[in-house]
Amino acid sequence: MNTNKTDIFQRLKRVTFEDFKQMALDNTLSTHEKIGFPDSYRQDYTKAIVEDISRKIPAFAERQKTILDIGCGCDELAINIIKYCEKQQHRLILIDSNEMLSLLPNYEFVEKYPCKFPENDTFISRYRDSVNGILVYSVLQHIILEANLFSFIDKALELLKAGGTLLLGDIPNISKRKRFFSSPSGIKTHQNFTGTDEIPQIKFLNIEHEKIDDAIVFAILQRYRSFGFETYLVPQHTTLPMATRREDIVIVKPQ
Ligand SMILES: C[S@@+](CC[C@H](N)C(=O)[O-])C[C@H]1O[C@@H](n2cnc3c(N)ncnc32)[C@H](O)[C@@H]1O
Repeated sequence: MNTNKTDIFQRLKRVTFEDFKQMALDNTLSTHEKIGFPDSYRQDYTKAIVEDISRKIPAFAERQKTILDIGCGCDELAINIIKYCEKQQHRLILIDSNEMLSLLPNYEFVEKYPCKFPENDTFISRYRDSVNGILVYSVLQHIILEANLFSFIDKALELLKAGGTLLLGDIPNISKRKRFFSSPSGIKTHQNFTGTDEIPQIKFLNIEHEKIDDAIVFAILQRYRSFGFETYLVPQHTTLPMATRREDIVIVKPQ
């Protein structure tokens, strides 16, 4: 992958686990860019994101729980999650590539597990039914590029303790994006961003390959309800930068 800074938006359109490893090693990139975000999408937002997460994963705000962050990256968000878990005396397990994890500090209460989830049966048998809160933040859109989304979520749910919560956070939903850019405030946002008075092009009769849409979001909600979990589609707090086109799914394992 070409890591020239000039075409950041183009480059960040389709990023796989292997691409992320290369980005983690590229010292010309900021930590926001290493995890696939232009600086403007993450700078100064981390505190609000952690607050939003702590409202959605109850165990996060409790004490002495086991928290797992799958696809934690190496950015301020991961650092703030580490700090938050230290304050709450949690045990924190971080999963990502070795290249990403080695950019994060080491602590006794943090276990780093380098792997491409869920390709590690030893990890899954070790932590089955034992995790109170699982965070998968801004990761699903990359999983869909090279794996089966449902297998990924199935395996994550195997790790949850009864009463525990899985947050599939910051999911870019192409259907939600289309609705937003058809609305007056979406049109205004587009015009401010491009510095033009053009109307955003919304394409229908267009197969959205490798994108998450309403059909996939609702299928996730329905699949795990049918297995006995509670599932909820929840908005992001309006202070978050992508709240108009991203949303979160909360899945709770009954007690
Ligand atoms: C967009 S970044 C998000 C990082 C972090 N969650 C955040 O929001 O700041 C996606 C991260 O997921 C990781 N990732 C992608 N696929 C993964 C997989 N199958 N298992 C573990 N990590 C994965 C990437 O290496 C990358 O660090």
